Amino acid sequence: MDIKEFISKIPKAELHLHIEGTLEPELFFELAKRNGISIPYTTVNELRSAYQFDCLQDFLDIYYKGTQVLIHEQDFFNLTWAYLTKCKEQNVVHTEIMFDPQSHTDRGVAFETVINGISKACQKAKQECGISSFLIMSYLRHLSEESAFEILEMSKPFKHLIKAVGLDSSELGHPPSKFQRVFDASVKEGYIPLAHAGEEGPTEYIWEAIDILKIHRIDHGNRCLEDEKLIQEIMKRDLALKICPLSNKALQVVKDFKNHPLKKMLDLGLKVTVNSDDPAYFGGQLIANFEAITEELNLSKDEIVQLVRNSFQYALLSEDVKKIRLEELDKFLAI
Ligand code: ADE
Ligand code: ZN
Repeated sequence: MDIKEFISKIPKAELHLHIEGTLEPELFFELAKRNGISIPYTTVNELRSAYQFDCLQDFLDIYYKGTQVLIHEQDFFNLTWAYLTKCKEQNVVHTEIMFDPQSHTDRGVAFETVINGISKACQKAKQECGISSFLIMSYLRHLSEESAFEILEMSKPFKHLIKAVGLDSSELGHPPSKFQRVFDASVKEGYIPLAHAGEEGPTEYIWEAIDILKIHRIDHGNRCLEDEKLIQEIMKRDLALKICPLSNKALQVVKDFKNHPLKKMLDLGLKVTVNSDDPAYFGGQLIANFEAITEELNLSKDEIVQLVRNSFQYALLSEDVKKIRLEELDKFLAI
């Protein structure tokens, strides 16, 4: 089996994926038409050519505009089902999906509409394809603490459908500490705390995310390598890093892809996982992310296996299910 086939066939988990970031231009056009929404693009190619970003904010401006075509439960279902179909094609057997409710409720779409559409697709994928999934409700950090509390309140009747809370959107100027109280309240509701930190923001934000929000894993965390004490702390607390290679390239978080920090992180023994973040915008699904780093960083098969093993080991799955997934992985490796 050559390396491409190996990457494709190995069963894997995805732990960092924004469902709104899976909206492919084709579905965007279809939903705009179905919902009678006028959009400033006439062709798929024209839209794709707008996906040129100098930084995270450049991307977020387009990403939030994309959400405007999502109105009805069926739209959220179609979006999520399209992603889960790609999971099946790529042998992604478990996925942890972030969603940004505020980007929808702020436009007058009910929380219930969003979560029902997404979770019905997840249930269908579990039944028909055996793909397990969890939902991570992410607070938008450019909005207020008050707005996050409103979302937390709205989520309560749907608590059984939500595994964790996250923190995403514009990082610079919005430190994790801004959300300390809403994270404390979220944990009291039973949600696991997670957050983006150190994607564009400084190492202090990673410290805050682990010390103040008490997160269980770090979304991105690329910049942790700038602080030796922080690296030691991340190892001590056994926190996994959810790295998104093609996202880092597209958002110019990493200037020179050949020197992507993932290799150094692996060499240090940090628990790295590979993820696609917003695949419709960054030029590739999970497999494409694995291929890109394998080629650019000259990763060995053993290193790929380590990354995949981490994706199960650091998933939010119960220990029993993790064991089953890891046994399936070992079975695949034994062939
Ligand atoms: N929302 C969607 N993708 C994101 C990213 N890469 N960073 C922060 N917020 C996001
Ligand atoms: Zn992200």
